[in-house]
Amino acid sequence: MASQVKPDLLSSAPAHGARHVAIIMDGNGRWAKKRFLPRIAGHRAGVEAVRRVSRAARELKLECLTLYAFSSENWKRPASEVADLMGLLRHFIQSDIDELHANGVRLRIIGNYRVLEPSLVEMIDGAMARTAGNTGPVIAIALNYGAQDEMVRAARRLAQRAVAGEIAAEDIGVEAIDEALDTADLPPLDLLIRTSGEHRLSNFMLWQAAYAELYFTDMLWPDFDAHALGQALDAFRMRDRRFGGL
Ligand code: FPP
Repeated sequence: MASQVKPDLLSSAPAHGARHVAIIMDGNGRWAKKRFLPRIAGHRAGVEAVRRVSRAARELKLECLTLYAFSSENWKRPASEVADLMGLLRHFIQSDIDELHANGVRLRIIGNYRVLEPSLVEMIDGAMARTAGNTGPVIAIALNYGAQDEMVRAARRLAQRAVAGEIAAEDIGVEAIDEALDTADLPPLDLLIRTSGEHRLSNFMLWQAAYAELYFTDMLWPDFDAHALGQALDAFRMRDRRFGGL
C-alpha cells in the first residue's frame, strides 16, 4: 500500500525549521543573588544550563547552537570574576569534550580567542581539531567576542587582500564580508534568544542577526532548559519571516 505520509514529513528536517540558534546567556549574577550566593555560583549553574541546552539542541536537530560566553567588553568585570569565567570555560572543555566528541558535536569558537592565555588557546585548538571531522551539530562558543571587533577584523582581512592585489574593492560585497567573519562556514542565524529580561543585543552577532528572529525571556540563564528552548522554537515556528519581501 502506498504511504499516506506526505513527503515533507518523511524528511529529517525538524518541524521548527530553525538551523542556527544563538543565545545571550544572561542572568547568572541575579540568579546567584536571589539565593544569597556568590556570583561564581551563578556562573557554575550557568555551565549546567549550557550542558542541558547543548544536549537539547542535538535532540532538536539544530545544525548550530552559538553561545555568548565571554564578550570583548567582559574584561571590565573584576579580575576575580574574569578568572572564574576563564576557569569555568577551561574546565568545561576539559571535562565535556569526550561527551561532545562521542555525540558527533563539532566545537567551534568565535571571537578573538587567540589573545587568551596560551595554554587555554592550545586546549581550544586541540578540542576544535579533534571534533572538526564530526558530522553532528556545531556548538559555537563566543569567547572574547564582540560583533564590532569581529567586523573590524573582517574589514582588515579584506583590506589586506585588496592591498595585496588578491581582490578588487568592487569584490567586497555581502558575500565577501560573510566569508571574512568568524561565522563564515556556519548556517545563517535563524533565532537569537536573550534570557533575563534584557532587551538588547550587547554587541552580539550584529551582522548575522540582520534577518534573525529575536526572542526575549525573563527566565534567568541558569534556569533555562530543554523545555525553554522548545518554547523559543515554538515561537519561532509561528513567526512570519519575509526577509524584506511580502
Ligand atoms: C551573563 O550573566 C553571563 C555571562 C557574562 C557569562 C556566561 C557564562 C557562562 C554561562 C559560563 C561559561 C560558559 C561556557 C560555555 C562553559 P551576568 O553575570 O551578567 O548576570 P547578571 O546580569 O544577572 O549579573
